[in-house]
Amino acid sequence: MDRAIYILLGAPGAGKGTLAAIISKEVDLAHIASGDLFREALSKGTDLGVEAKKYMDKGELVPDQITINMILDRIARPDCDKGLLLDGFPRTLEQAKALDEALAKNGENVTKALLIDVSTEEVVRRLGGRWICRDCQTPYHEVTMRPKVEGTCDKCGGQLYQRDDDKESTVRSRLEVYTKQTKPLIDYYGKIDKLAKVNGEGESEEVAKRLLAVV
Ligand code: AP5
Repeated sequence: MDRAIYILLGAPGAGKGTLAAIISKEVDLAHIASGDLFREALSKGTDLGVEAKKYMDKGELVPDQITINMILDRIARPDCDKGLLLDGFPRTLEQAKALDEALAKNGENVTKALLIDVSTEEVVRRLGGRWICRDCQTPYHEVTMRPKVEGTCDKCGGQLYQRDDDKESTVRSRLEVYTKQTKPLIDYYGKIDKLAKVNGEGESEEVAKRLLAVV
């Protein structure tokens, strides 16, 4: 198969979900977000969702094997034939290697890992004011990206809510996990010349333009 496979890398709150929504409109790619898949599973009350919640509530990563199985199964579906924008996966070296191995079986490899670079102060500020649509997962911010009608999604009319793992103490754990377990991927993709770093600060449309220039 000859499809483009992009990875969005970045700290919690770097803007991965926001940017993926803009980019997948401009470039026809399937947006696959591991966190959204876990939250969807939880809202349906599946075993996967209940298991994932145990880790998400503490700001820890869901075990690799569970996550890898879920993503490999998802990206094998027909809507992914047009190309992929992976948001939040991979996040450990083991996940990155499992993805490479699975793609290699089809003669494919990752096109580019796009690192969205945002300061820690900015991500803490962003997550503190985030609201998400319960139905389509679109993120809003109570100061910088307000919905037209308070509490309601502009896109689908769904109800907005605040994620349990956006509490200050959990955000701190998520940032520590990012530094220890996910940052090594910057080197991993850098060494094989697959890394593109983009400044993630400024208006989201502006950041999306920077990303689109690479994509
Ligand atoms: P996940 O849902 O992937 O969360 P995350 O990586 O922590 O990322 P976020 O969704 O918090 O942030 P984002 O970068 O998408 O930012 P957003 O666009 O929303 O993962 C949650 C949990 O699931 C993990 O902790 C883990 O337990 C589990 N999990 C998921 N994937 C896993 C994996 N691969 N392996 C193991 N476990 C996994 O933007 C944030 C806010 O900023 C919003 O309010 C937005 O409106 C605002 N904003 C965005 N851009 C801008 C801008 N340019 N200027 C101003 N405000 C902005």
